[in-house]
Amino acid sequence: MLSQVIRVLTRPGRIHSGEGCAKQQGLALHIEPRVTQEDRFVLRQLLEKVARPGMVVVEIGSFLGNGSTRTMCETIGPLGGALYCVDTWRGNDNVEWHQQLARTHDLFNTFRHNVGVFGATPTVKPLLMTSLDAARIFADETADLVFIDGDHAYQGVKQDIEIWRRKVRQGGILCGHDCEGRTDEFGEERVRRHCDEDFVRLNGHTFAGFHPGPVRAVAELLGPAAVLWCHQDLSAHGHQGRRSSIWHVMVKEAHKF
Ligand SMILES: C[S@@+](CC[C@H](N)C(=O)[O-])C[C@H]1O[C@@H](n2cnc3c(N)ncnc32)[C@H](O)[C@@H]1O
Repeated sequence: MLSQVIRVLTRPGRIHSGEGCAKQQGLALHIEPRVTQEDRFVLRQLLEKVARPGMVVVEIGSFLGNGSTRTMCETIGPLGGALYCVDTWRGNDNVEWHQQLARTHDLFNTFRHNVGVFGATPTVKPLLMTSLDAARIFADETADLVFIDGDHAYQGVKQDIEIWRRKVRQGGILCGHDCEGRTDEFGEERVRRHCDEDFVRLNGHTFAGFHPGPVRAVAELLGPAAVLWCHQDLSAHGHQGRRSSIWHVMVKEAHKF
């Protein structure tokens, strides 16, 4: 079933443009990735913990393919593994510049272009669908690592953690992006009040602000089991004074941490 879906989605010449009509839009090659050098470092560390020949990794939210997708392929590719990239390629509903970009550019074909330029086409298996639909075609405990970076509203992140935690094998890793701290660091009430928003700006913080959705969902569902890399000092690795907003949990037994 999964291989049939992938064959359809990756068939050359097919245009994936939302409503079924072919749009002639340009590629969004001017957009720089949002993942930082620190995020890339942490992603590599996490992948190395679960690396094995033929490893299976799922990314929820790949966007243009030049950020986390690229970094993960650098580890997965040489091992002959697969990176399943789940995305609607319509951008996040609550991010205005995503919506604007999706109206004027072809996000899916930008992704395919970037993946090709990085030499990662054999590794990447695009799944053009919602996270919820994609979860239906993965058996439980099949992924070595799942990286959650899709819908950033609280309900979306909560759903992603709930549905994807069970897809990770024992000893594997569930992780995600954009968790800049524990809820009490930003104020519980403020985190709740803004939890449908993508990002809340802050002054005088290590980060320019915080993402209330991931912050609240990680706190509620995973609590202290989640390692927040924003609290890890990366100075010894050449990242003086800079932090990553990646979080992760090791899955010890089915669905538990
Ligand atoms: C923050 S971007 C991902 C960034 C990417 N990981 C990177 O490093 O550049 C979020 C992506 O999630 C996708 N997305 C949002 N909600 C989704 C959903 N429910 N199912 C699948 N993809 C979704 C958006 O289309 C968007 O491309």
